[in-house]
Amino acid sequence: MLRTIIISPEPGIGERLGEALSGFDGAVQLCRVVDKYPDGSELARILRAHAPEVIFLSFEDTQRAVATVRYLESQSAGLQIIAFNAVCDATHLRESMRAGVREFLTDPFDEETVRDALRNVNMQLQKKPPVYESTNQIVSFLPSKAGAGCTTLAMNISAAMARGKEGTLLLTDLDLNSGMLRFLMKLANEYSLSDAVEMSAAMDENIWPQLITSKFGMDVLHAGRVNPNIRVEPTQVQSLIQFMRRNYEALVFDMSGNLERYSIEVMQESRRVFLVCTPEIPSLHLAREKMGFLKTLGVDSKVSLLLNRVQKKPPFTVAQVEELVGATVAASFSNDYFAVSRATTAGQALDPQSVIGQQCAAFAAGLFDRRPPVATGEKKSKKFLEYFNVGAQQLASQD
Ligand SMILES: Nc1ncnc2c1ncn2[C@@H]1O[C@H](COP(=O)(O)OP(=O)(O)OP(=O)(O)O)[C@@H](O)[C@H]1O
Ligand SMILES: [Mg+2]
Repeated sequence: MLRTIIISPEPGIGERLGEALSGFDGAVQLCRVVDKYPDGSELARILRAHAPEVIFLSFEDTQRAVATVRYLESQSAGLQIIAFNAVCDATHLRESMRAGVREFLTDPFDEETVRDALRNVNMQLQKKPPVYESTNQIVSFLPSKAGAGCTTLAMNISAAMARGKEGTLLLTDLDLNSGMLRFLMKLANEYSLSDAVEMSAAMDENIWPQLITSKFGMDVLHAGRVNPNIRVEPTQVQSLIQFMRRNYEALVFDMSGNLERYSIEVMQESRRVFLVCTPEIPSLHLAREKMGFLKTLGVDSKVSLLLNRVQKKPPFTVAQVEELVGATVAASFSNDYFAVSRATTAGQALDPQSVIGQQCAAFAAGLFDRRPPVATGEKKSKKFLEYFNVGAQQLASQD
């Protein structure tokens, strides 16, 4: 499906174009009709929310339209623009062509002309899909055994990472059966991950802020009330993650230890996976079992251990734990019942002065590198071409 946006300060013509596009249902998805020329930051938000491939841009106000074209080009290479207007006189055509826009539609929008324009831009998209900035700074936390302290570490390491970088990190509770973040962080938001999953296909910059809560300098999507019946499709998780990747610098996922399909999906997207265990035999045993399973998924190379609740005289050394589980220990965290329970009671993050608070901060500091976000192009599906009854090779040879 070709994702499109209409920018039209004159509502009537935008509506008529929308109607014309609805005739291509199944091949064209109209994500949004914007009823003005949006300013830079608004346009950037809209692009991050929808990652469109084609913008239908009104040339009613030539100057603003040209400025919009320039801005769109600076935001996403490969994004296709189709100009439209009530009339297409020499001035409009000249200005739009000068701005590098190859397609121009006039009202009324007849089906054949729209089809031709779509086919032409689609050929360009085949050669060069649009590219949007998208973070690859994704980490997930997986408990070896229930109660290993996975949520405690995920939350506090995230809070430490977010310090001084407000609003750039998203922490998501993926534990749909016993998610604790809502309680630990005293979040009152009625919306949760289930809503985000349900609305994943239509997610945008207006819905998203209602789903998350800002706490401890980060945005948090909690898991809601216990709901074992929820079905989460991999495609829903995928589109949600893509949305998150475009809108945050860093993503942290707190998982249940049940290795659900959606958790596996998230681990595959993650740059690093932290398997949280305690230095006790049952926890280490399950960590080893999980490592074995993660190996079968091919994600074992990004897994390392976080050793939690380490006492002064631990029963195993770090080297022994590594050998036993078959993974390296990325960091150790003290057993600090006092600091952890005080934070839990107060609904606060760990005291940064406490030993475990300092350990979380030190680990967080080295966690995210400063590599620029990667650019992702969305691959076009064949379906779009099939809709026009033209094979990909045919299209390429026509160009
Ligand atoms: N380093 C620590 N020192 C003392 N207590 C801790 C520590 N880490 C976690 N705890 C406590 O252990 C309990 C379990 O922690 P948490 O909920 O973080 O574990 P989990 O691995 O996420 O569990 P679940 O499998 O239920 O998701 C909590 O009561 C928490 O306060
Ligand atoms: Mg947990």
